[in-house]
This record gives sequence, structure tokens and C-alpha cells, in this order.
Amino acid sequence: MKKILLFLFSTLLINMASAQKLSEDMFIENLLKQMTLEEKVGQLNQYSGNWKATGPNKVSANNVQEIEKGHIGSMLNVFGADVTRALQEHAMKSRLKIPLLFAQDVIHGFRVTLPVPLAEAASWDLTAIEKSARIAATEASAAGIHWTFAPMVDIARDPRWGRVVEGAGEDTYLGSQIAKARVKGFQGEGIGHTNSVVACAKHFAAYGAAMAGRDYNTVDISRRSLWETYLPPFKAALDAGVGTFMTSFNDLNGIPSTGNRYLLHDILRDKWHFKGVVVSDWGAIRELVPHGLCKDDKDAALKAINAGCDIDMESNCYNRYLADLVKAKAVSEETLDNAVRNVLRLKYKLGLFDDPFKFSNAEREKRELANPDHKKSAKEIAEKSIVLLKNDHETLPLSAKQKNIALIGPLVKSKADMKGPWAIQWDTDDDLISFYEGMEARIPQKTSLLYAKGCDINTTDKSGFDEAVETAAKADITIMVMGESFEMSGEARSKTDISLPGVQEELIKKIKSLGKPVVVVLMAGRPMTFSWTAEHADAILYTWWLGSEAGNAIANVLYGDYNPSGKLPITFPRSVGQIPIFYNAKNTGRPTPDENKISYGSAYIDSPNSPQYAFGYGLSYTSFKYSDLKLSSNQMLPSETLRVSCVISNTGKKKGEETVQLYIRDMYASATRPVKELKGFQKVDLAPGQSTTVNFIIDKETLSFYNQDMKWGVEPGTFKIMIGGASNNTPLEAQFDVI
Ligand code: NOJ
Repeated sequence: MKKILLFLFSTLLINMASAQKLSEDMFIENLLKQMTLEEKVGQLNQYSGNWKATGPNKVSANNVQEIEKGHIGSMLNVFGADVTRALQEHAMKSRLKIPLLFAQDVIHGFRVTLPVPLAEAASWDLTAIEKSARIAATEASAAGIHWTFAPMVDIARDPRWGRVVEGAGEDTYLGSQIAKARVKGFQGEGIGHTNSVVACAKHFAAYGAAMAGRDYNTVDISRRSLWETYLPPFKAALDAGVGTFMTSFNDLNGIPSTGNRYLLHDILRDKWHFKGVVVSDWGAIRELVPHGLCKDDKDAALKAINAGCDIDMESNCYNRYLADLVKAKAVSEETLDNAVRNVLRLKYKLGLFDDPFKFSNAEREKRELANPDHKKSAKEIAEKSIVLLKNDHETLPLSAKQKNIALIGPLVKSKADMKGPWAIQWDTDDDLISFYEGMEARIPQKTSLLYAKGCDINTTDKSGFDEAVETAAKADITIMVMGESFEMSGEARSKTDISLPGVQEELIKKIKSLGKPVVVVLMAGRPMTFSWTAEHADAILYTWWLGSEAGNAIANVLYGDYNPSGKLPITFPRSVGQIPIFYNAKNTGRPTPDENKISYGSAYIDSPNSPQYAFGYGLSYTSFKYSDLKLSSNQMLPSETLRVSCVISNTGKKKGEETVQLYIRDMYASATRPVKELKGFQKVDLAPGQSTTVNFIIDKETLSFYNQDMKWGVEPGTFKIMIGGASNNTPLEAQFDVI
């Protein structure tokens, strides 16, 4: 009886789902039939309101007229319940009353600024990352936004590239897990819920492989590299239900992405069955001309739409030429209709045809923006994002013993830099907690703070050095807060020199020469090079840019209220000359230890091969021991699974979290494999003296790769397993065979 009821119930559910689908399809087809050619093109046309950092949104009168004619389908850079409502009212004056879509780059928070994405990736905490995206979505959707241009899931192995700050770092596995978490966070319970925003996997594809780390530059990579390294995070986002994709600016092996049918059609639609919207990056259709793929803007519109790019963001190419191209049959009606269907479907899923104003609710906006719960979570996520790179002689955590603390450096009192490159919605800097304010609030009663700026971020002026030295001389310990300004990483912020800018490292040297303990707190949106500091500072915290709650989070970590647990999601080179440098490199035919001399091995004569800090590295105020590695068998068939377990113990005196990392190596295969590939990780939280067993399951998927013929699968042979707390520190190792 139970089984029959269950069967009837599930049949009912299936029928309900298809009925809904039917009505969605019927609705869209019906609408499509009523649309003129110009109205169809209008749906594919996306314009920007004025760029807004502060102050009111401005939408030109011209735009308003175009909206009323149904010639604009979506807009970016307009937000606020009132502004979006007003614009939507104009859309409701159009003939078919098709609502507008409002999009925005909500990259690391909306009103409450969250840590930059690279910082959050350092937490390796998928729950926290998902929550962060949830907070951003809750606030953004309350301000009338339907769609965020995030997450950026580009793998980035070159810290010269300014946009490393927006992604999850260098690793495909970690990047894919984070891509899923972010999509889930943004889209919450699903597209259409009033506190969700539609996510966008960008930039499709391989934007992070820009040659020489120069933004927008050519990408020329092997098919293997594309499929193994750069595409998986996009597939992961798709599997998590991402609603949209954005094309990338770069050309990929000769074909610019925005006109690349192999990417946008063969992979995305045919192979991956993506049903959502593809939007071009800003002006990227027009850029097909300077790329040299197209004769003129009309040709660009033709190539982009035929490749599979649905929406034209700010190129104004579809708007001007698409109708003519359809009339001339250079673009089929079916191609146009399919693109329009994708856009209408998204609007339908959002529920905008039922209520175009459902996201423009001033009351909800007031309640959600800067909600104290969001701030609390922002602090917790910020704490988890901090990486302890060095801590000689247990310099940290600070305690009541340090009565006089000198705070020195250009970032001690900075608020603006805490916010990172994509802080879009804040009223005044009062909302951001500077490092100084965080310390003021946290220091024990009898502790005094002494302050000297010392120097600016990027200057040759050393006139503040003496005051800084005098200040440090009076203190028990000095904390130097150094790094980049928030404008130094991000889009169009590529650099050839990624060292600590200006004279900052010189100032560290001066202060260190006093012979007192020096803690260096480094803030940046990318890995910087700072080899002198790495060698001589007593302790180093890498905090990236942590957003609204930066000062509180850093002070809590310095005092050990939160025991740092971050691990680097990207390799820190010793010098730019080592770039690109990443942990999952190939062994080569001449693998060479860090010799730094002529050896006829694959090495440099003027630098070790090893980086300054490896992927996965990060310290804690406690220590962990890895032991008891066990494999359920030393052989497996591809159809079987293998259980790997080990014990982690907290051998120190403080409670702490460790990220247990599992790497594999396929020892020989029909195509060469990396020396290490991350295949799993788990965060454990242990009290002093406590131990726990961590289990991983190895299956066919874990061991598969693209073989010599680019076919995905596992080959029989020997595999090595490595487990530890960093890619260069895996004390547990074993081998097994796939038979
Ligand atoms: C250009 C950037 O590449 C992209 O990531 C962003 O979403 C758009 N501009 C819109 O602001």
C-alpha cells in the first residue's frame, strides 16, 4: 500500500513538474509569436546605467525611451529598490510589457563588504564561502538586483594578472568546489526566490591564462590544458545549476571567446546541455574587430550570435545590426529566437512576468542591507580567510604581556583599502573597520597603541621613516601593516613587479634592525614577493582584503581569539621570474631538487625551483600530527572504490582547525601527469590533545584523466597517495595499483 501511494505521489510530482514546464514553454512561445523583430533584438540588448560607487543612479533619458520601446532587455549598474522599480515601470509601458533584468557585479558582498574571493578561497571552508555568497545575494536581491556577474571561476596561475583577486586561485579541484559553493550561495533555494540572485560563471573560457599575466591578452593553451585545468570549474558551476555564463575577452587558440562556436555551442550547449543565458563581457562583441576576427561591428554581431552569445553587453552591435542580419538571412530566425527564448526563460524563472516589481521592495531593502547578522558573518569569514605564513618563537598570538604596541605602515588606518576592488554599495568609510580601530577595540586594558604611518603605499619618499623608528623603539613589539592599495589588483591591474610596493620593505628592514620582534601584516589582492621579509620578520599574516570587518577580524587573529586556519589557494613565488609557478606541475625528464646551480636538470642557476610559500600552506597557533595512513586495499579495479584513512592529532596547546589535503599522482600513463593533484580535503577542528580519523574515498573519477587520445578515463597502473597540511608537506604517503 505504502509503495503504491509513493508511486502515485511521485507520478503526480512528475506531472506537476512537466505541467509547469509546459506552461513555461507555452508562455514563452506565445510571447515570442507576438514580438516584432526589433523587440526580439531588444531582449538581447544590455545597457549600463551610470557606473555607481556612491551617489544616485543615473539612467539617461535616451535609455528610458528605449526601454519604453522594448529595445532594452537588461541593464547593469542600476540598483536600489526605488531605482529598479522606476525603471521597471518604464518597461511596463512597453507594448508587450516584458520586464527588465537588472544585473550587477556583486563580487564580494553588496552593502556589507565581504573578503575578496581569493581571500575566501584561502579559508577552504565551503560552508563559509556559500554563506558569504548567500549574504551578498540577500542584500543585492533586496536592492532590486536579479543577477550577479559572479562567480569568476577562472583558474589563475599568474599573480601578475590583476584578476587573481576575483577567483579561487590556481587549483582546478579547489576551484570547482568553490565554484559550486558560490553558485549555491547566490542562487539559494533557487532562481525565483526573492532572496536569490542568478549566478554567472565567468569568463568562459581560460581568461586566467592570459599570456604574461597581462589582462585581456591572448590565450594559447593546449586542448589538454583547456579541458583538464580551465574548463572543470565551469562544468562544476553548471552542475550546481548556474543560470548564466559570460564570455571572456581573450582569444583562445586563435578564436576570440565571444565569437567562438566551439566554446559557446559545441561545448556549452551540445556537450554540457546548458539551457541558460550567455552574456558577452562588456563590449566584447565589438572587440571582435580589433581582435582581427571581424571586418566591422556588423560582422561582429553576426559572428557572436552565430557562435552562441545571447546578450550583447554594451557593444551596441546587436542593437544596430541584428535585425538587418536576420532580414538578410545571414542569421536564421531560429538562432535569434533561441537566444531570445533563453532570456525570456530566465525572466520567467525569476517570476518577473507575474510580478515585475517583486525584487524592488524598499522595506526589505531597509531590513536586509547592512543587517547586523551579515556583519557578524562577515567577521567570521574574514577570520577564516587569514593565512599565518610565519610565526617564529611563538611571536603570536599577542597577549597582555605586550604593554606597548607600535602600529606602523600605510595600511594601519586605511579604510578604503579594506574594501577591495568590487565594493559597490557603501555609504561612507565609517562602515569599514580599519586595522587600527580593530586593535583599539581589542587590546587589553593596560596596553597602549603607538602609531606612525612611516610611508605611503607606493612612494619613494622615506621622510616618515625616522618617526616610525622612534615609535617602534618605544614599543615591546611592532606590527607593520603593509601591502597593496585596493586599486592595485583587479581588472586591468596587471603588474610586472609584484613585490611589496614602494619603500615598504625598506621600512620593515629599518624597524627590524632595532632588534625587537616585528610582525608583518600583509594586505593585497594577489600573492606579492617579499623574500627579505619572509626570511627576517618574526611573524607574517597574509590578510588579503577582508572587507567591512577587516580590522576586527585581524585583531582577533593577532590575539588568538580565532586561531588562524587559512591555507594558500595559490602559490607565492620567490620572484616574478618563477612565474608561472604552481604546485601541480609536471615532473619533466630531468626532475631536479632545489639546486640553484648548473646541474643540467630542470632548474634555475639563480633561484631555487621551490616557491616562497606553496599551495595549501598555512600555519596555526597549534601543531598537528599526521599518522596511521590506511588503505582498504593496495589494488583496485576501476569499478571499485578504495577507502583511505588517517589520523590527525592536535599536538599543541590550542584548539585549532587543520585542512587535511589529499593529493594523488598517477606514476605513469599514456600522457604525462602532474607530480601532485589535489583530490580531496577536509577541515577538522581539534582541541589540544584530541585526535580524529579522516576518511577519503578514491574512485574511478578521482583517478581519471584525458588520455593520449583525449578520452576521459582511468588507466591501469601505479598511483601514489599523499596526505598532509600543504602541497609541499605530505608526511603520509602510500601507493596502490589500479588493475
Ligand atoms: C568587465 C569584466 O570583465 C566583467 O567581469 C564584468 O562582469 C563586466 N565588466 C561588467 O561590469
